[in-house]
Amino acid sequence: MNVLSDRLGRPLRDLRISVTDRCNFRCTYCLPPTQPVRYRPQDRILSFEEIERVARVFVGLGVRKIRLTGGEPLVRHELPELVGRLAALPGLGDLGLTTNGSLLAAQASQLREAGLRRVTVSLDALDDRTFRSLAGTDRPVAAVLAGIDAAMRAGFAPIKLNMVVLRGVNEGEIIPMARFARERGLTLRFIEYMDVGGGNGWCRQDVVEAGEILARVGAELPIQPILPRVAGEVAERFSYEDGAGEFGVIAAVTRPFCVDCSRMRLTADGELYTCLFGVSGVDLRSLLRSGATDDDLASVIASTWRSRDDRYSQRRSELLPATARVAMTVIGG
Ligand code: GTP
Ligand code: 5AD
Ligand code: SF4
Ligand code: SF4
Repeated sequence: MNVLSDRLGRPLRDLRISVTDRCNFRCTYCLPPTQPVRYRPQDRILSFEEIERVARVFVGLGVRKIRLTGGEPLVRHELPELVGRLAALPGLGDLGLTTNGSLLAAQASQLREAGLRRVTVSLDALDDRTFRSLAGTDRPVAAVLAGIDAAMRAGFAPIKLNMVVLRGVNEGEIIPMARFARERGLTLRFIEYMDVGGGNGWCRQDVVEAGEILARVGAELPIQPILPRVAGEVAERFSYEDGAGEFGVIAAVTRPFCVDCSRMRLTADGELYTCLFGVSGVDLRSLLRSGATDDDLASVIASTWRSRDDRYSQRRSELLPATARVAMTVIGG
């Protein structure tokens, strides 16, 4: 089968599916408490049958990797059932989940049994006060740590941790988080704070650049780059010289990776986005619900991908004002 290519020659390889736009956290960089939230009406949210059907069509078009996101995907009822359906799709090579970890302790083993391959947990601080104020929650960081433990016990490996680093907020957590992850064999990725959505009040001064993060970690723990980067991967990887595992940086602001972006995104209400910074999606839901055949769906997906020339992170300063963009909880990170 021919791989689908977009206008810049990039293949369609990954699908990120947001299973809900709801979240039990209000992270300041994603869904700040000041921002009004309007959830998608429940009747528009795709059913598991609909998601499975779309996913099957995507696999037929060359997608090999699916990642479930949100909002917080674990607030969606019966998520293991969806995992089971997707895990059974012939031809799919990888199935992962990105979660805030707060509900993971109760669900990790069920998800594993259903066929989930990989788990990534977002965790921005170990210090409880910093964690709670950043995540906009009363839950203690211990709940997330318990979720990580449960995922380890369930046999997920390697487990990744995502830490968004904000100037003056959780910079002090860089080294404690690096040590914490190393000791447990977790792969930590430091993420540069991005201007996604439109409500987080992003400004360039709040970004702690990957170069600075690497200098800080390297000053404490000798590190070396792992080269070359696999095409389509968002993180640049580094290993600790003492052999105690690896970590990464996701430098979406200072070293954009649009050049080999192979990701399509499906929102919980069935819209397709070809970029994390998209302003409008393509409505698959109406198609799905008006008797379209799988071939009809495939041809809409294929033409959407072929006509794509997104490279927002590379063109950051020239583009639309931030307020026009779709929220991260809708498009799924
Ligand atoms: P694997 O490589 O499969 O482990 O997953 P991943 O790193 O693609 O998934 P994850 O959800 O952990 O993504 C990490 C973070 O990278 C996201 O939360 C975003 O902040 C950022 N990111 C992921 N994909 C993109 C993208 O296409 N563009 C930009 N600008 N940032 C992205
Ligand atoms: N900048 C960078 N990463 C972000 N995420 C959410 N909002 C932002 C942002 N503004 C990441 C979170 C989580 C994933 C769902 O998206 O860290 O890992
Ligand atoms: Fe935080 Fe993720 Fe929820 Fe956004 S979707 S508020 S990043 S936990
Ligand atoms: Fe892909 Fe858009 Fe992210 Fe660039 S900014 S890597 S095109 S999703």
